[in-house]
Amino acid sequence: MASYLADSDSEDELPPGWEERTTSDGCVYYVNHNTKETQWNHPRTGQRKRVSGDLPYGWERIVDENGKVMFADHKSKTVTYSDPRLAFATEEKEFPMDIRQKFDASSNALDVLHGRDLSGKIAIITGCNCGIGFETARSLALHGCQVVMACRSIESATEAAKKIQAEKADCKLDIMELCLENLKSVKEFAENYSLKYGKLDILILNAGVFGIPYRQTVDGYETLFQINYLSQVYLTILLEDALTRAVPSRVVFVSSESHRFSNITSDKIKEEVLSPSKEQYWSMMAYNNSKLLQVVFSGKLSEKWAKKGIAVFSLHPGNLVSSNLSRYWLPYRILFGLLRPFTKSLQQAASTTVYCATALSLESVTGLYFNNCCRTEPSKTALDPLLADRLWLLTKELLIKAGFNIEMPS
Ligand SMILES: NC(=O)c1ccc[n+]([C@@H]2O[C@H](COP(=O)([O-])OP(=O)(O)OC[C@H]3O[C@@H](n4cnc5c(N)ncnc54)[C@H](OP(=O)(O)O)[C@@H]3O)[C@@H](O)[C@H]2O)c1
Repeated sequence: MASYLADSDSEDELPPGWEERTTSDGCVYYVNHNTKETQWNHPRTGQRKRVSGDLPYGWERIVDENGKVMFADHKSKTVTYSDPRLAFATEEKEFPMDIRQKFDASSNALDVLHGRDLSGKIAIITGCNCGIGFETARSLALHGCQVVMACRSIESATEAAKKIQAEKADCKLDIMELCLENLKSVKEFAENYSLKYGKLDILILNAGVFGIPYRQTVDGYETLFQINYLSQVYLTILLEDALTRAVPSRVVFVSSESHRFSNITSDKIKEEVLSPSKEQYWSMMAYNNSKLLQVVFSGKLSEKWAKKGIAVFSLHPGNLVSSNLSRYWLPYRILFGLLRPFTKSLQQAASTTVYCATALSLESVTGLYFNNCCRTEPSKTALDPLLADRLWLLTKELLIKAGFNIEMPS
């Protein structure tokens, strides 16, 4: 699963006298003003390209009385012959897995969305009243996406929504209560959402806890395991119909590089390992394990949903990003605080999530893991098919045991 990286974007630069244009169905062609000839292949790279999706917000395609196509930007009141989507043209690929890296560790979520109009799309983001989830919600909403903030504290989510709307009053935000410590709350959320909206374009499973003391949930499972894994997987399965109504839709699991330090393997996986007793509980390992389970489950789910047109990705947002994640244990708070000048900002940490949720270059792929907006190989264990099969069955068993009968995706 090695990723393909082109050297840089500079090879895309056109030689003097050339210009890029688009046809009405999104094909890019090249005009040579010296010879007056046109061609489909880029004069330097030989690649063919396409543009897709809507024009950026505020732009309109106009055809004048002579049949000439122009693009008007109503905001800056300018008219140009260049299709503004050319900035995001994607190469026609012989192999869909060839993904060119356009962003890196320093990219912001808003850089990733530059020029994108997400009007008409609906996204659910779990745990977006603060931290990386908040910046994800803010970035998508500022680009026209309707965001459903799935949070356990309505008060805190309302404050967060107000901050986003202070920046842009017409942002479409809705707040719906979701407590991931309680499977009944997950079920009610999914039912209410489906009744209200019917379709779902983007599901971002961002909520998470780290370093919490041992506690059992009302459903009888260890709390960190249930919040980070079981409840969010249950939510995903319950939203299958809504995601199907919006295909091509996407599911994004915010996992972590910590998944590499999990002690779960295919021969050790059982309920007591996933949801340990108080005596067996070590919060650091519980976190690593929950993040591995997310990567494994997203891989398996991507296989099941590939034919339906629902893509599933998982990712690492950044190392020791200063958010509220460290709030449960003072030494972590101090460590996160000390490292703050050297780690990603929350805007940077939200970039890989936003990339996985919206990038046009991911239109024909699924089941991949990303770090720094770049396709990355997860751990060997995360790719173990036996582990994936066993986790799939065990997840179903644990949901049924808690009284939530579920049909797993087929
Ligand atoms: N920060 C990092 O360095 C880092 C690194 C790797 C991966 N990650 C992952 O990134 C994601 C976002 O973390 P973050 O750093 O932004 O942390 P954060 O600021 O603590 O945000 C976590 C979010 O999850 C929500 N949440 C926690 N328990 C919940 C529950 N029972 N029900 C519903 N929502 C719940 C929180 O809501 P409340 O505010 O109401 O508690 C909050 O909105 C997590 O999955 C985390 O594992 C973070």
